Amino acid sequence: MRLIMLGAPGAGKGTQAARLAEAYKIPHISTGDIFRANIKGGTELGKKAKSYMDQGKLVPDELVCDLVADRIAQEDCKEGFILDGFPRTIPQAEALDAALSGMNLKMDAAVNVDVPDENIVNRMGGRRACVKCGATYHVVYNKPAVEGICNTCGSELILRDDDKPETVQTRLSVYHEQTQPLIEYYEKAGILKTVDGTQSMDAVFEGIKSLLG
Ligand code: AP5
Ligand code: MG
Repeated sequence: MRLIMLGAPGAGKGTQAARLAEAYKIPHISTGDIFRANIKGGTELGKKAKSYMDQGKLVPDELVCDLVADRIAQEDCKEGFILDGFPRTIPQAEALDAALSGMNLKMDAAVNVDVPDENIVNRMGGRRACVKCGATYHVVYNKPAVEGICNTCGSELILRDDDKPETVQTRLSVYHEQTQPLIEYYEKAGILKTVDGTQSMDAVFEGIKSLLG
């Protein structure tokens, strides 16, 4: 199963991708998590990505496309993978198509987690993320067992730098301008599946599984 998770910032892509990865036993590839790990590790890529991310803007396509092409060519992606946060622009979608056709593969589905802007800001302020493993929580909707500590790896949970309300607004505008056109792109490709992302996390998960059949 080769899946793309589409949706606005805070729509629940990461939350659902983690569950789907476990259910289908395929890797969850989040470009945002890859960048955050690089920022934490102080790598060249991290240094380049940080200023864009902190402003809520997209990292340039050339820093993302090769990275994903290399990642999906790895052994653990043989049975499939879930892309979370990629592609985010039409050129990225075209680069993905080119990389896949070079391997004689294509995507099975692009899942659009549909959440209106009004719901997003509320979710972002309550989100807590594990810097180490990328697991995502919410102070109201999805609390960790011990406050401030990741259930999975025991590391500290943080409020992401780009979850400040003013940055969230920029991310939403960037989403509407640059990423939303992908909905039509994948609709034309015949692989778009849309789920109502305002439901509970469990209901969204069940909805996606039934869409995937
Ligand atoms: P990225 O990390 O991908 O962030 P994003 O797309 O803005 O999405 P989020 O991770 O904020 O939201 P999500 O949809 O995963 O929601 P989540 O499940 O956490 O990218 C960050 C930055 O990196 C970008 O701005 C850009 O600069 C750069 N970048 C990354 N990829 C790039 C690319 N391909 N090209 C260029 N630049 C790139 O859920 C949100 C919160 O809501 C959580 O607290 C969660 O617990 C809660 N929640 C989830 N579902 C529900 C529900 N059903 N009900 C109630 N609460 C819920
Ligand atoms: Mg995410």
